[in-house]
Amino acid sequence: MKGIILAGGTGSRLWPLTKALSKQLMPIYDKPMIYYPLSTLMLAGIREILIITTEDDLDLFKKLLLDGSQLGCKFNYAVQNEPKGLAEAFIIGREFVADSKVALILGDNIFYGSGLETLLKNNRDPKGGIIYGYHVNNPKRYGVVEFDESGKAISIVEKPDHPKSNFAVPGIYFYDNEVIKIAQGIRPSERGELEITDVNKAYLNKGKLQVTVLDKGIAWLDTGTFSSLMQASQFVQVIEERQGLKIGCIEEVAYKQGFINEIQLKKLAAPLLKSGYGEYLMNLI
Ligand code: TTP
Repeated sequence: MKGIILAGGTGSRLWPLTKALSKQLMPIYDKPMIYYPLSTLMLAGIREILIITTEDDLDLFKKLLLDGSQLGCKFNYAVQNEPKGLAEAFIIGREFVADSKVALILGDNIFYGSGLETLLKNNRDPKGGIIYGYHVNNPKRYGVVEFDESGKAISIVEKPDHPKSNFAVPGIYFYDNEVIKIAQGIRPSERGELEITDVNKAYLNKGKLQVTVLDKGIAWLDTGTFSSLMQASQFVQVIEERQGLKIGCIEEVAYKQGFINEIQLKKLAAPLLKSGYGEYLMNLI
């Protein structure tokens, strides 16, 4: 399975913070935001990853993440000229995906919790689409999924005025290769975007969409507003200081997944010693 991180967008809800710099490079406590979704894909065992961002930010992401070989991965980069919607990831990334299955994660989504690795790894061979439902206080800003009495998903509506449930669809999606064809077939919505919800609806109509409810043992945070950005940083700080374990640490995930060995980890740690981040990596060995 290959992976795509969608890290473009305008980040206008964070202006002026994100006027000159990508949202996905903003700090979430001790690391850039994109480390979190990247570590999530790596936790799923995915090593070949396409990072889609804007022309302006492309070189900064390359400077930060290189070609991925230092983490035992392979990173590719592509540009999305305008934020024309999440489903455009599969059009921009169609040659990268080729005939593989693919996971898409949004660059501003953070997942953390017990059992996450198993949960993610179970999705590596989707027969159709696999998405999640997550209970939130105010689902209006998201795709909202409605379930029947047996727990089967029966509808998904993008940003509804009157949500039929409190279950929002988080920004991580797993698909078989048909997603490329489906994404090419959908039309822009009223707001002019190729909606991931339309991709999910296409799978739902074929009876090929699995919607798993994430329980409260998993935290899903998005970071698109001043307040949610701050809360995410505080969340990470509280957990990391209490446990002495890092969240979203791509070097740690690479090591624990067996993508890199001790010598490679030491090399990654060396320039990071002054901040304490490197010391954390050294202590893993
Ligand atoms: P949004 O939060 O919907 O959009 P945004 O990041 O541009 O922010 P704002 O609403 O404040 O203007 O995007 C969710 C994630 O998806 C975010 O990580 C950016 C990314 N994205 C793209 O890369 N391309 C797109 O076309 C869209 C719509 C989003």
